Amino acid sequence: MNAYTSHKQFSRLLYTSALNVDQSGERPEQTARQIAEASAAHNRLSELTGSLLFVDGHFIQILEGPPDQVEETFEKICCDFRHVDVRLIDLVNVSERLFGDWDMACLCEDEETSLALRDGLQEIRFLVGINASQATLQMRSLLDSQSDSSEAGNLAS
Ligand SMILES: Cc1cc2nc3c(=O)[nH]c(=O)nc-3n(C[C@H](O)[C@H](O)[C@H](O)COP(=O)(O)O)c2cc1C
Repeated sequence: MNAYTSHKQFSRLLYTSALNVDQSGERPEQTARQIAEASAAHNRLSELTGSLLFVDGHFIQILEGPPDQVEETFEKICCDFRHVDVRLIDLVNVSERLFGDWDMACLCEDEETSLALRDGLQEIRFLVGINASQATLQMRSLLDSQSDSSEAGNLAS
């Protein structure tokens, strides 16, 4: 656990969106990784943690931390022109972080992605539409399974 454990109550938010292809000059996965890296730097200052998944041009993001910070950052994210069709899927109060080790982990599909990781990402994309909490747990477990591998591209705090 990191230094962000002093808050007793956290919000955990899950949303989905799609990359705005009109605004993306680079390769989509490159844009996704840049967003995750910049987000990790911001989140470190706001005591936010979470994970950003990018598959088939779609984002699935989990953001957790102090409720006011989650709300404020999600408002900014909603206004960001780099993605469209932002849909809030789940917002819950929790007493512990699930992604406390990641300022913003990046699970992004690219041409180097192994079949196993691609399957894991697709499974989460499928799950998010039917069971948000299951999708959240699956994201955490995919991160755990990738944590020893350089493929994960995880941005650990
Ligand atoms: C898919 C996606 C995910 C993002 N995730 C975060 C995030 O976790 N934290 C964050 O601070 N900004 C995130 N951003 C960027 C925000 O939209 C915004 O650009 C950033 O917070 C800087 O805002 P500011 O310059 O007004 O402070 C994300 C943007 C996109 C498109």
